[in-house]
Amino acid sequence: MSSKKPVWIAGIARGHNGGVCLMKDGEIIFSIEEERLTRQKYDGGPYASMIKILDYTDKLDFLVVAHTQNLEQTAGKVDFSGDDVYTGLARKLGLIKRTPYDGSSHPQVIDMSNIHHKLHAACAFYRSGFDDAVALIVDGAGTFITLDIGGQPTTVWETESIYDCNYPDNFKTLYKHIGANGPLMGAWMPEFSSEMYDEPKEATHELVLSENAALLSHTKQLQNIAGLVLLKQAKLWDYFHMVSQTLKHLKSLEMTHLYLVQIEL
Ligand SMILES: [Fe+2]
Repeated sequence: MSSKKPVWIAGIARGHNGGVCLMKDGEIIFSIEEERLTRQKYDGGPYASMIKILDYTDKLDFLVVAHTQNLEQTAGKVDFSGDDVYTGLARKLGLIKRTPYDGSSHPQVIDMSNIHHKLHAACAFYRSGFDDAVALIVDGAGTFITLDIGGQPTTVWETESIYDCNYPDNFKTLYKHIGANGPLMGAWMPEFSSEMYDEPKEATHELVLSENAALLSHTKQLQNIAGLVLLKQAKLWDYFHMVSQTLKHLKSLEMTHLYLVQIEL
């Protein structure tokens, strides 16, 4: 019998369809969406799900948080102590160290809101069975980013991304379409820095910045043409555009046989 202490990690999704996935030494122990516990479809804020972790373990090594906006800046605050509600709940439950909040982030809480689309790519890649792939992400609003545009701090967000994916955890950004609520001068930058997505300082990607954050919707016609039926309104025009972009990158990587697509609408 191994005496090695197991590593417990819980990942939570804060936003719509919030929930928890609990892992022990890399194996999924349980996963649940908040709506199953609260009986509210698409419910966010996975508090009930987090309490459910106690059915399996009373200690976490790490709490990993997925969302589109920064945890400390945008989550609600616990009264009096002032930490964000997710860190605060984990702390109160004793899942993470009960260190009082001192204004700095908890060492056991990892906020991954800066790489929202990259997390979608990881979900697609790790379940694909491929050793090497390019992933295309189409998602109405991924990571929110503040860019200096004409001297003005401007909020923009990921709408479409392409990644080169390799094991064990290499996800290189190749292309991004970033949008905003206009008016805004659009731009195309062939070599935009990828540093904000946790990539090396010298890494770059192709960037398209447009004033319209929404993916263009030509749903009906393209659904008819493609013969596809999607449950929610699909934005297939951009989808087809992105497939062509993906194929271009596949070619540049000398990979011609596959692409992965993850769409969140
Ligand atoms: Fe998303």
